Amino acid sequence: MLPDLDRHLTDAATAVAEAGDLDALRALDAELLGKASVVTEARRELGAMEPDERKDAGRRLNEVRAELERLVSERRTVLEAGQRAAVLEAERLDLTELDRGQRLGHRHVVTQTWERLEDIFVGMGFTVAEGPEIEDEWHNFGALNFPPDHPARDMYDTLYVEHGEPGSTLLRTHTSPVQIRVMEAGEPPIYSIMPGRVFRSDTADATHMPVFHQIEGLVVDRGITFGDMAGTMDAFTKAYFGREFTSRLRPSYFPFTEPSAEFDIRRDDGSWLELAGCGMVHPNVLQAGGLDPEVWSGFAFGFGLDRLALMRHGIDDLRELFRNDHRFLSQF
Ligand code: DAH
Repeated sequence: MLPDLDRHLTDAATAVAEAGDLDALRALDAELLGKASVVTEARRELGAMEPDERKDAGRRLNEVRAELERLVSERRTVLEAGQRAAVLEAERLDLTELDRGQRLGHRHVVTQTWERLEDIFVGMGFTVAEGPEIEDEWHNFGALNFPPDHPARDMYDTLYVEHGEPGSTLLRTHTSPVQIRVMEAGEPPIYSIMPGRVFRSDTADATHMPVFHQIEGLVVDRGITFGDMAGTMDAFTKAYFGREFTSRLRPSYFPFTEPSAEFDIRRDDGSWLELAGCGMVHPNVLQAGGLDPEVWSGFAFGFGLDRLALMRHGIDDLRELFRNDHRFLSQF
């Protein structure tokens, strides 16, 4: 004898419709379809029945079971949708609260400078290259003609990374290692600029930051001269600052260039501001980049990108650029 299955179905339908959340439904699912459920118990009775009776009863039980499964599954769909809606409602953000008078954001002044520089140099026929911020000692120093333990390395307060041999891996102190990477990557002619972030263990003050930006330039071709370099630097100054600006080159020293120079531009008050280092690429550096110095010659330069931004906008404290004070940044 089977229990009253119609009755069972009606009761089950009511209980399922009343299950208020997924936990309640899960409990009901076990109760209606699990080991101790009416349908499972009834199935155990089948063995004791006559074959004909058993066949009908078995079919009926299967139908009831399927109907129970359908009820539970439909209710689950409804409850899950409700739960998703509740979660969405709870996580809702009212973005209109942030809108104090339609203020649109804009690019950071350093990004603007970076993009402007790229535009100017691309307009002069240069391509843009980038290299890694975590460098090896060879690219940052060795290949750039800094002999091991040479005092010139002390010009850079290097931040080393704990990786490999001690002293072998570092945060690049300048963008010059990208020169080597560009030479390694392809044959001259090379007319490339390499903007990027650089790192030194400096204390922040009005003219220093431990993280700042440089833009490196490298030209390698046949018969490149110091005159080409001076002309390029001057053309750049006029394009970036305006035709009335003047610049000068002063003798200097960098291990990777020979001769080397400092590039200054004249401020409104007549004083000079140092903007870049530059020089003719040292033969050892060409060789480190896999090029024959008898065939190729070139020049390189490295600008402080943040300084260019300060200079152009008349900002007198480098730290202002990175304080992220909206009132300050919105001016540019
Ligand atoms: N790498 C130098 C620095 O960070 C700047 C520099 C000087 C880059 C002369 C050059 C160069 O390419 O020719 O101080």
